[in-house]
Amino acid sequence: MKNLNTLLAGIFLAVALPFGALVISSQVQLGSLGRAPAEEGGPLFPSREPGLAIQGRTVYVSLGCVSCHTQQVRPAGQGSDIARGYGARPSVARDYAQQGQVLLGDRRLGPDLANYGARAKDLSSVHAAIQHNGQFAFLYAGSKNEVASERAVALAAYLQSLRQDYSSPEAKLKK
Ligand code: HEC
Repeated sequence: MKNLNTLLAGIFLAVALPFGALVISSQVQLGSLGRAPAEEGGPLFPSREPGLAIQGRTVYVSLGCVSCHTQQVRPAGQGSDIARGYGARPSVARDYAQQGQVLLGDRRLGPDLANYGARAKDLSSVHAAIQHNGQFAFLYAGSKNEVASERAVALAAYLQSLRQDYSSPEAKLKK
């Protein structure tokens, strides 16, 4: 076994190189991302998530909303997301830096929700959208489904917190 050391070194490199390339390099690029101002002295974005929105995310996950809705706006050259009004600018990694659980989604049966909070007219339109013509009406009580349950209230707060309508260092809004 005179080549044992070469063999072991080869196995080590075969594990260490991909680990370095995939894990460490993404940690270096993205791990330190936090809130930042678009220009010096400006307000920090993204905003911190309200507690109710964090609760609402667990409802969003438990009801499987992510199986039909993405939360990522593609740049103009890679799809028609911006033309469709899904967002004011493409999504960037920093947009998700404050989110405990990032729900990008990979199937888009319904509209992208990354910037839904910015385009939702008011709270009652959010509650109307949640119901999907009856599919999720069980979250509401009353003859016209006008009484929102605790889960629906949290879910609406989560949807209203989804906004990518600010400038950040990587993604400036067009003036
Ligand atoms: C089976 C697929 C499916 C699931 C599951 C689903 N949705 Fe939808 N959703 C849609 C479709 C399709 C539309 C567009 C309906 C329309 O425009 O009438 C939509 C529309 C919406 C809208 C309005 C978006 C806009 O831009 O106006 C919101 C908000 C929304 N869904 C939130 C949710 C939430 C929250 C859940 C989980 C409780 C959920 N959806 C689950 C398919 C789905």
